[in-house]
Amino acid sequence: MSQTSPAPVDGQARAVSPLQLSVVVPTFNERDNVEVLFRKLEAALQGIAWEVVYVDDNSPDGTWQVLRDLALREPRVRCIRRVGRRGLAGACIEGILAASAPVAAVMDADLQHDETRLPAMLQLIENGSAELVVGSRYVEGGSADSFNRQRAGFSTAATEMARRVLKVEIADPMSGFFMIRRDRFEQLAPDLSTQGFKILLDIVASAHGSLRTVEVPFRFGSRLHGESKLDSMVALDFFGLVLAKFTNDILSLRFILFALVGSTGVIVHFTTLYLVLKTFGEPFALAQGAAALVAMTSNFILNNFLTYRDQRLKGFAILRGLLLFYLVCGVGLLANVGVAFAVFNAHVTWWLAGAAGALMGVVWNYAMSGLFVWRKR
Ligand code: GDD
Ligand code: MN
Repeated sequence: MSQTSPAPVDGQARAVSPLQLSVVVPTFNERDNVEVLFRKLEAALQGIAWEVVYVDDNSPDGTWQVLRDLALREPRVRCIRRVGRRGLAGACIEGILAASAPVAAVMDADLQHDETRLPAMLQLIENGSAELVVGSRYVEGGSADSFNRQRAGFSTAATEMARRVLKVEIADPMSGFFMIRRDRFEQLAPDLSTQGFKILLDIVASAHGSLRTVEVPFRFGSRLHGESKLDSMVALDFFGLVLAKFTNDILSLRFILFALVGSTGVIVHFTTLYLVLKTFGEPFALAQGAAALVAMTSNFILNNFLTYRDQRLKGFAILRGLLLFYLVCGVGLLANVGVAFAVFNAHVTWWLAGAAGALMGVVWNYAMSGLFVWRKR
């Protein structure tokens, strides 16, 4: 029955040319946009062998169902549905890693990016002029008219900061529209942060100037359906990314957020201690215990909303996570005190000993929380 090389049905079945381009499109609540974009890609990419990989983070509006439907009819379309994860950068990374063509493009689903630029961008890579091509709003001929004043201001300031701190040379490192050689991307992928949304900046900074880059202008248009997912949190993500790259990845975005939350915990602790002690006149031991409990709880809530917002615990898992977090922090406190004592006994000044203990505590809490409380499913 089995045949090693099935005879071609007709000559055409064999004439399929190898893929040239994979277009990666991250989606979250874009059900009304995805097919419109696909039709536009079809029109723009005539004569090119291409596929499109949509990466959907389990959108509540059912974007992934619309995509499965489309993929049934259109063999060029693939859809990766991610569950239990959120994040633009992570979605783009998985999409590019799942791509089959030697070149991958990333673009938004909402038609704000100009798909008619893709063939010219591909040509720059295929003829060897570039390894990375950036669709840029800030070079001659590009624009971002659709931005409101506030967003335009933030975008310009963030761009300036990234360029100075990270010595990134390109005009628009915040663009969400770019094309890259997949082999180069695969080399960099292990260094990229899946959190946040500045994947291009991350790529450029991680490459340390080794990527031959060309920028092409495009007009950043207006969104078709739905609304933007970038909230004020992205500003935080952005500063975290700059800091992480500036310290050569010694400090990760998550660790920085975790430590920041930890320092708010110190304030919460002392405020509670003061209140219980002075206002309610309770004994010190009780006040200290209550303060620690309140601080751990507020740390947990903040970490769940901020540090681990892409893996946020929900429903019953919150309670389980909270109890585990108490446990982790309890052991962390022992480690903290132990290290501080050891250092202090070695005749080091009190504040250095204290700092060593605190550092030990936060590193422990961070490592163990990642392992047990917000572990990847
Ligand atoms: N899978 C996935 N997961 N996709 C997401 C997520 C997410 O958590 N968040 C956003 N997206 C998708 C959106 O559905 C859209 O297709 C694309 O990513 C961009 O999101 P928008 O919400 O439209 O972002 P924007 O238009 O405000 O920002 C764009 O312009 C910025 C430049 O100012 C993006 O291209 C940014 O990357 C870019 O920096
Ligand atoms: Mn958009």
